[in-house]
Amino acid sequence: MKTSVAIYPGSFDPVTNGHLDLIERGEKMFDLVIVAVLQNVDKQPLFTVPERVEMLREVTKQWPAVEVDVFKGLLVDYARKRGAGVILRGIRAVSDYEYELQMALMNRKLEPRLETVFMLPGEPYSYLSAKLVREIAQLGGPLTDLVPAVVEQKLRAKIA
Ligand code: PNS
Repeated sequence: MKTSVAIYPGSFDPVTNGHLDLIERGEKMFDLVIVAVLQNVDKQPLFTVPERVEMLREVTKQWPAVEVDVFKGLLVDYARKRGAGVILRGIRAVSDYEYELQMALMNRKLEPRLETVFMLPGEPYSYLSAKLVREIAQLGGPLTDLVPAVVEQKLRAKIA
């Protein structure tokens, strides 16, 4: 499991500028960043997994060291399968910390060789979340600066 290979896991429903900020930071730090979309049967997503993957591929295509993939099951199993030694997660505010700490420590218990690396997104993204983006889109509000243009188009089309 290589520490030069990081997995950035999440729901990405949809990818936001905050996610992209973190991917860009990760891409500078690791040889390979695998953006891994969770295939979660429990959640009712706005976008299907293939739609989320397509948007992620489109908005990360400028970075050759960024790959987009899908995973299901335990993240630690997927990390072992991909030979990744790092899980990359963003922490926006103190409110994120408790959940992230719990996940990181549980993942460490499940696979001690796997390190979780936390990065801080740029300040303009510290209050941004995919959940709020979905809500603003559903209520017809402006999405400027919150998501890439292609994602805004897909949101508008989905909600129309
Ligand atoms: O973007 P999200 O929804 O905050 O991402 C959560 C994610 C995908 C990182 C988390 O739910 C996850 O890793 N799920 C995979 C199942 C798993 O490994 N569960 C144990 C985590 S300690």
